[in-house]
Amino acid sequence: MKPVNPPAEVSRRGFFGTAGGLAVAAGALGPAQAAKLPAAHSGSVASVPFHGPHQSGILTPAQRHTYFAVFALDSDKRADVIALLRQWTEVSARLARGEPAYPGSYTPDGSADPLPGDSGETMGLPPENLTLTFGFGPGLFSKNGVDRYGLAGQRPAALVDLPKFNGDQLITEKTGGDLSVQACADDPQVAFHAIRQLARAAYGKASLQWTQTGFTGDSRKETPRNLMGFKDGSNNPATNQAALMRNVVWVGNEGPAWMRDGSYMVVRRVRIALEHWDRMPLDFQEQVVGRKKSSGAPLGKLHEHDAADLEAVDPDGELVVPEAAHIRLSAAANNGGTQMLRRGYSYHDGSNFHSERWPPWKQAVEFDAGLLFFCYQKDPRTSFIPTNHRLAGLDTMNQFTTHNGSGIFACPPGVQAGSYLGAALFEAAAASA
Ligand code: HEM
Repeated sequence: MKPVNPPAEVSRRGFFGTAGGLAVAAGALGPAQAAKLPAAHSGSVASVPFHGPHQSGILTPAQRHTYFAVFALDSDKRADVIALLRQWTEVSARLARGEPAYPGSYTPDGSADPLPGDSGETMGLPPENLTLTFGFGPGLFSKNGVDRYGLAGQRPAALVDLPKFNGDQLITEKTGGDLSVQACADDPQVAFHAIRQLARAAYGKASLQWTQTGFTGDSRKETPRNLMGFKDGSNNPATNQAALMRNVVWVGNEGPAWMRDGSYMVVRRVRIALEHWDRMPLDFQEQVVGRKKSSGAPLGKLHEHDAADLEAVDPDGELVVPEAAHIRLSAAANNGGTQMLRRGYSYHDGSNFHSERWPPWKQAVEFDAGLLFFCYQKDPRTSFIPTNHRLAGLDTMNQFTTHNGSGIFACPPGVQAGSYLGAALFEAAAASA
């Protein structure tokens, strides 16, 4: 079906987001076209509110696509950063509702000048559960020893510079950054469009530093599988348990007040040597992960959500979940009880010439594909960092995986209507000046 341009005063959501919207659309298009609407678009008409106590896109069940973008701040003025965050807030709230980035951007015949309006590639598309999740990197607080915005004193202790982990092969162009935005949506065009609008809004104040797309199965139906073919996310802490989320994900009284109800995000771009993995027999793959490939059950158990028995031994006295299996080394029980909420996406970026790190040290053009790992936690110093140190040193999965991109970001709490992202940070800085 050809895209339909909504009239200027009617948002995309006004057309597609509600039953009432569909009724308007039906009236505007005539019965023959309207009847085609739901079937013509396989995506989601649903929207996720942008405003709230927490940012969306953290506990939100993972949408099918992500477009993750990291920005470098170009301006030296605090006022520019505030203006940018105000504008990003307004644009994001509209995009999440399925509206164009700027009011009145679309005209019925699509003839509007796209600048300063919306670039237009989502005209006719529903909101697709778009979420935009923002993070503040170490560079917002100080960069190369310079406190550009008078914010150095507000840097949370938990926003540490990540240490170097064993085996890291970080690509400078895929690492670090001052501000992060993760767009997630059930349509890749909606996710891309959102980042594009935010990048346009940043002209003169911030510019793209690196980006990465990702995709996943539908997490609302069952645990999606990663590119190793295993269910990924089975033993995540349950996002519907508020008390657990307060313990694991959300910053409480222990952080600076401006981070309360926010979270710390670590992102890692992890290449998986798929050609190497695909040559491994199934039982070896299962020993590496510590779970059955088909059911996702921990070794020795029947069902995906059965608890792993890390003490169990087989009749030969061998551990059922091997000593260096991924789920043993990453289990809370072996990491001081710490947990994190993983929200990973697979990525593929075509192919490249690669030299493998492990025997048979194959050199060939191979997929550049793997896991875009995201995790959220209240303090990375006690969760991601020690867990990844253990994994980086001992995990048998390391034969197949290489961390080549990285970032750490403080994701401030959600925004109340009328306010803007990170407002409490700038108020705290002003109060302490
Ligand atoms: C390419 C890299 C990785 C792959 C393919 C991968 C895959 C998996 C799979 C298949 C599981 C079992 C199912 C589940 O509970 O989700 C799992 C569990 C887990 N992974 Fe990873 N993972 C990777 C990297 C990491 C990293 C970097 C960390 C954190 C530092 C991590 C932390 C965990 C944790 C905490 C669990 C749950 C363990 C448990 O309590 O059972 N993973 N991962």
